[in-house]
Amino acid sequence: MRIAVITSGGDSPGMNAAIRAVVREAANRDIEIVGFFEGYRGLVEQQYQKLDSAAVSEIIDRGGTILRTSRYEEFYKEQVREKAVKNLNSLNIDSLVVIGGEGSLHAAHLLTLSGLPVIGVPASIDNDIYGTDFSIGFDTAVNTVVAVLSKIRDTASAHERVFVVEVMGRRFGAIALHAGLAGGADYICLPDTPVETPYILEDIINVIEARYRAGKRHTIIIIPEGAGSAYDVATGLRAGTEQEIRVLILGHMQRGGSPSAWDRLLASLLGSTAVELLAENKTNLMVGWKNGQLVEVPLAETFTLQPALNPKLVQLAKRLSI
Ligand code: F6P
Repeated sequence: MRIAVITSGGDSPGMNAAIRAVVREAANRDIEIVGFFEGYRGLVEQQYQKLDSAAVSEIIDRGGTILRTSRYEEFYKEQVREKAVKNLNSLNIDSLVVIGGEGSLHAAHLLTLSGLPVIGVPASIDNDIYGTDFSIGFDTAVNTVVAVLSKIRDTASAHERVFVVEVMGRRFGAIALHAGLAGGADYICLPDTPVETPYILEDIINVIEARYRAGKRHTIIIIPEGAGSAYDVATGLRAGTEQEIRVLILGHMQRGGSPSAWDRLLASLLGSTAVELLAENKTNLMVGWKNGQLVEVPLAETFTLQPALNPKLVQLAKRLSI
């Protein structure tokens, strides 16, 4: 048996650990693994390399992805996908593991319609994939943001300033919620409470003023990019409070760095299970982690159904702001 593996979409810390697990699990089963470069583009342009156990040594702790990645919109065209399947057939490759986010899992589902068995492994710092409690990279990104919040608190406090910190999360506020709670942010803006709504701005201003009256020397507001721009929030706040406001946009540094222990563990479990499922002739599934257990989720669900923020944590965020 020969299996191809790609990493696709935005990179996330732990993708390398997932590749390693795919390769090593396959080696245990005498299955060959071929890594294709730059995600779906590599399948079409035939950029590949055979991966044996030695090829994935010393990568478990590395961020990024040794297979590189891309956002390859061309792949939504049927004739482009057909070309990829033809290329894989010509190399006697039976099936594919896709390590990536929601868009990549969507493309993976479309590939199965062309007859190629595919298993998806959820990897995205945004944690916005339906069917799994965690996607690979989320935990590391949250830890990165938490570390930044501590540093920002120092300077915010020294200058008695308000900081609006914008984190990643186009469609989902999971990084803001988890990092905001763990990092002790004073106000967490979530996408279901758009900040353009004057009431919410008013709410933030009330928190800033109440904290100032209580003798607190800083206020840290965290906002996911999907909920609006930190600059817009700052402009709105300046109109309603005398406090000094500063903006910090964390951007792509959230995607980098050595993966946390949890991301390495999750990636190892999911990568190895993806190979196991293909060996059992299963296809069109994402392997996820739900309620402390491995789960098999139909690929179609991963991009048609919406994940939800943990309601307990959302409640907690509201109760602990101030
Ligand atoms: O990987 C998801 C994500 O981190 C989003 O939160 C963000 O909007 C996006 O990637 C930006 O990615 P890029 O600039 O690589 O297209």
